[in-house]
Amino acid sequence: MSARRLPLMCGIVGYVGSQSALDVVMAGLKRLEYRGYDSGGVAVLSDGGLAAAKKAGKLVNLEKELVERPLPAGTTGIGHTRWATHGGPTDANAHPHLDNAGRVAVVHNGIIENFAVLRAELAERGHELNSETDTEVVAHLLAEEFSATADLAEAMRLVCRRLEGAFTLVAVHADDPDVVVGARRNSPLVVGVGEGEAFLASDVAAFIAHTRSAVELGQDQVVELRRDGVTVTGFDGRPAEVHSYHVDWDASAAEKGGYDYFMLKEIAEQPKAVADTLLGRIDPSGSLTLDEVRISPSELREIDKVVIVACGTAFHAGMIAKYAIEHWTRIPCEVELASEFRYRDPILDGRSLVIAISQSGETMDTLMALRHAREQGSKVLAICNTNGSTIPRESDAVLYTHAGPEVAVASTKAFLTQLVACYLVALYLGQVRGTKWGDEIQAVIKDLSRISEEVERVLETMEPVRALARTLADKDTVLFLGRHVGYPVALEGALKLKELAYMHAEGFAAGELKHGPIALIEEDVPVVVVVPSPRGRSVLHDKIVSNIQEIRARGARTIVIAEEGDEAVVPYADHLIRIPATPTLLQPLVATVPLQVFACELATARGNEVDQPRNLAKSVTVE
Ligand code: AGP
Repeated sequence: MSARRLPLMCGIVGYVGSQSALDVVMAGLKRLEYRGYDSGGVAVLSDGGLAAAKKAGKLVNLEKELVERPLPAGTTGIGHTRWATHGGPTDANAHPHLDNAGRVAVVHNGIIENFAVLRAELAERGHELNSETDTEVVAHLLAEEFSATADLAEAMRLVCRRLEGAFTLVAVHADDPDVVVGARRNSPLVVGVGEGEAFLASDVAAFIAHTRSAVELGQDQVVELRRDGVTVTGFDGRPAEVHSYHVDWDASAAEKGGYDYFMLKEIAEQPKAVADTLLGRIDPSGSLTLDEVRISPSELREIDKVVIVACGTAFHAGMIAKYAIEHWTRIPCEVELASEFRYRDPILDGRSLVIAISQSGETMDTLMALRHAREQGSKVLAICNTNGSTIPRESDAVLYTHAGPEVAVASTKAFLTQLVACYLVALYLGQVRGTKWGDEIQAVIKDLSRISEEVERVLETMEPVRALARTLADKDTVLFLGRHVGYPVALEGALKLKELAYMHAEGFAAGELKHGPIALIEEDVPVVVVVPSPRGRSVLHDKIVSNIQEIRARGARTIVIAEEGDEAVVPYADHLIRIPATPTLLQPLVATVPLQVFACELATARGNEVDQPRNLAKSVTVE
């Protein structure tokens, strides 16, 4: 499958049952708004007809429209929040799209690459298309096929066979008000099965308030939802095997829980997320039992290289994982930006273990990287937070982080749980390969088990960090320095500030200062320095203290993150942020938290939208 440019993830919801379809769909869309939010729309079947409403802008605009022009009541309906690709965020381009007779409504995520040809053919057959979107062609094609088959699922299968590209489609037809039909190719779609009702959505967050019984949809499949159940087939009409699973997120987990932003809630959830990610992975004897890692110990013993592929924050987790994997297993470990990975013609074979780290499990760069790795015969292990998403489904094995839904675009608890999962994988490799004895593994597990309470302690001391952040709101740059595992932490701190405060921020390996970046230091430039533990690699500690002296001598305002008891840094710290003393490799689990709080507070001080920063979406399926 060649790579396809896919739009940033949109939010899709479909419902058939006994509740108000409008209520269920709108509530579901609100849970998905973080996925893309520049227009929204709904369609409801009622009294043999189909009624639709759609508006540009955030969902609140659609809600106002529905107050001014209410839709008729109905128990079958679909809805969509959009991230524009083909055609700007206008009312006309908002989904759902209808055929000319207004009998079919369809919502879509993805790109239909041959839509121009289909559009021309439809126009020749007399169809009038009213939008700039690729999606609209599907409404007209479904109308044509339905008129011949009187079966919406069959019509969907026939249409999908004519589409090129990658897509999730959900449709309804006024002539069959008891069915909602969905199709997926290379884009997420999950099914929720309730009592006398069924749901379709881009993400389980849309329906977990109603049911936790879900069904995975595979590649090139069509699903037909009715009140009494779901039917899944291939695009060729052959019945498909249905994999059900239980969604263990609580409905409340997707709410803000009293915080102003999801991000604040998710920062506060980190102690629990870390603890939950350890749960059930250590047997009574203290050995690791990673039962979802469906790669046998004998295969793992054959591994002679680990390659980690990821994007953004997940990539920073991979950078930290490298230190642990190489230190504990002595296996060479490369870390690669997923978007660069397959274009550098990487050297991979059956003895390479590729680890794909992804919170959403839908990041197209990472998905295409793991596909490339599998084509080269490598085993792929996914570290993912979203059960049933595409990346774990296409991997040989998966280790799920148990962070619960992470709604804020800026990743926080997912990052800490990715680190925990990476440590577990590294220890597991050490365990099966004999490079770490049982007692050594248990010692690290014991340290990991304490991290949850240490993160809690850090969270209790963040008021000075918030106060400091507010004083820097008018700055136009902040630099971040770190060494060893502190270097990826510096990069992560800079990324948080970029994506939240829309501020120039850059992370450096502190040793690189003298090779150029020190030229950036001038009076009052804020520089955050992540100081390694003096107990671990004292040489690194001493070197970074020298770095702090160097930048301070040139006027920098030094913001120093250092462990309790480290007095060497005190004379050179304009602002000192204390973190608990932790083992060297685990320090990122506590050092990152002040940087998350710092970025969030600075963004708030600047009046920015914290959960949905400009230009960004939570799940990036742009390749
Ligand atoms: C981090 O705060 C960003 N949201 C972004 O860098 C994110 O980590 C990246 O897009 C990867 O997403 P994934 O973990 O869902 O694959």
